[in-house]
Amino acid sequence: MADRLDKFISENSSLTRSEAKKALALGRVTVNGIISKKGEMKVSETDEVTLDGKNLRKIGLVYVMLNKPAGVISATEDSRDRTVLDLIKENSEIFERCPRNGLFPIGRLDKDTEGLLVISNDGRLSHNLLSPTKHVEKEYIAECEGHLAKDAAERFKEGIQVGDEYRALPAGLSVLKDDGDRCTLKIVLTEGRFHQVKRMCHEVGVEVVHLKRTAFGKLVLPDDLKTGEMRFVKKEEITGE
Ligand code: URA
Repeated sequence: MADRLDKFISENSSLTRSEAKKALALGRVTVNGIISKKGEMKVSETDEVTLDGKNLRKIGLVYVMLNKPAGVISATEDSRDRTVLDLIKENSEIFERCPRNGLFPIGRLDKDTEGLLVISNDGRLSHNLLSPTKHVEKEYIAECEGHLAKDAAERFKEGIQVGDEYRALPAGLSVLKDDGDRCTLKIVLTEGRFHQVKRMCHEVGVEVVHLKRTAFGKLVLPDDLKTGEMRFVKKEEITGE
């Protein structure tokens, strides 16, 4: 399929569309060995496009897992806070292969939530993983303060009423530790509403003080992926198919 040259450059390099146009005007781009300054020129898979002498290849679909630290937001850009895409270090393997254009986080974790977040450019997979009708599991470890209701696990299983707003889909709750006024819970949801774990925990008498996502679909956060680190994964590692 043929693409406009300026679009091809912005999708397959770290340049934005307007930076790509400037690079073209400055003669930094060649197509099949000849300098091209025309953004509207059509290029296809078989054309060899270079930027500053480096070959640009089609990126294709990519999947990256991040161990998200607290303090960064799950967005592609923000005027105030650092985003998860800002954590892609220049010159890293991930930056070299797929500079951030076109990448986005699949779903959101709150600013103060840590753990597994998938970053990709695959819109279809994102839709499938996030749709509540697909029942994709997301596992969280929540450290909480307060007295956990005795029937908390049964209420989660039945689908708990959250405020006046909605009834959550049935969810898993296992108590990993309970000291009476502090507990650690493992929670498995198949949907992803705003502050959902925190709000569901509130309904059973406890407040989340630390939250970490440990699994997303079939993908489990590996012990050796340190906070703030990311690495490529295969789509099948997420979907299990
Ligand atoms: N539930 C929450 O409350 N926060 C998150 O970040 C994810 C799930």
